[in-house]
Amino acid sequence: MTVTDPRKIKSSFDLPRHVGIIMDGNGRWAAARSLPRLEGHRRGVESVRRAVRAAGDLGISYLTLYAFSSENWSRPPQEVDDLMGLLKHFIRIDLADLHKKNVRVRIIGSRDDLALDLKGLLQEAEAVTRDNTGLALIIAFNYGARQEIADAVREIALRVSRGEIDPLTIDATTISEHLYTADIPDPDLIIRTSGEQRLSNFLMWQAAYAELVFLPLHWPDFDQVALEDALRQYSSRDRRFGGLATTQSAMTGS
Ligand code: FPP
Repeated sequence: MTVTDPRKIKSSFDLPRHVGIIMDGNGRWAAARSLPRLEGHRRGVESVRRAVRAAGDLGISYLTLYAFSSENWSRPPQEVDDLMGLLKHFIRIDLADLHKKNVRVRIIGSRDDLALDLKGLLQEAEAVTRDNTGLALIIAFNYGARQEIADAVREIALRVSRGEIDPLTIDATTISEHLYTADIPDPDLIIRTSGEQRLSNFLMWQAAYAELVFLPLHWPDFDQVALEDALRQYSSRDRRFGGLATTQSAMTGS
């Protein structure tokens, strides 16, 4: 399959504003080639670069990548170290280029258990790019949706105890406003590679009305053609947000 001219895609597709990606299958990609898992993750970083470039070219506003889940600590210590190392390497090598491309970097997740040098790099990436106006690249690192929701509930409870929030006014917006993603619109499209079909604790609150697209390829094989495939599937969906299909509402006159 060939890459489509981004201008054509922009004009012919209903583009999502926010795309989230569960980057899965690095290990299987490596195993299929008798390579160490680290090689799969390294190739995964190349796919990250391709995804960022393609999303920027297409005019997608927000791209959230699930790079390390709060459950990934249960992997062998060497692999955990490798994943931390790859993120550090990515920021050290790519930050200047991301900044030049007007990308705004955000990291969501808990920083408590991260090494000092990694925390410093994450802070630097956010600080250097904070005023950029192009693609918002959100890296979910040491992220878990249940932890995020628990953190939000704790913060709301504290604010109630200080008299800052009336508990009777708490609604879904209150929760959204206390998530790590408070200033980021909900994802319209969530892509998962490797053929697995689950959310795995990724943006579970925010994904309430996201369209889910599962691609059969492993993350190291992800490229612009794969993104276009997902976007095509997204644009053919009828998003109803709990209402009626476009044709049904035309019939009922609503
Ligand atoms: C899933 O594959 C992938 C991960 C847990 C890590 C994703 C990390 C990267 C792509 C590199 C670092 C990220 C950035 C943003 C620089 P898996 O290991 O679960 O694969 P498997 O299910 O086939 O074993």
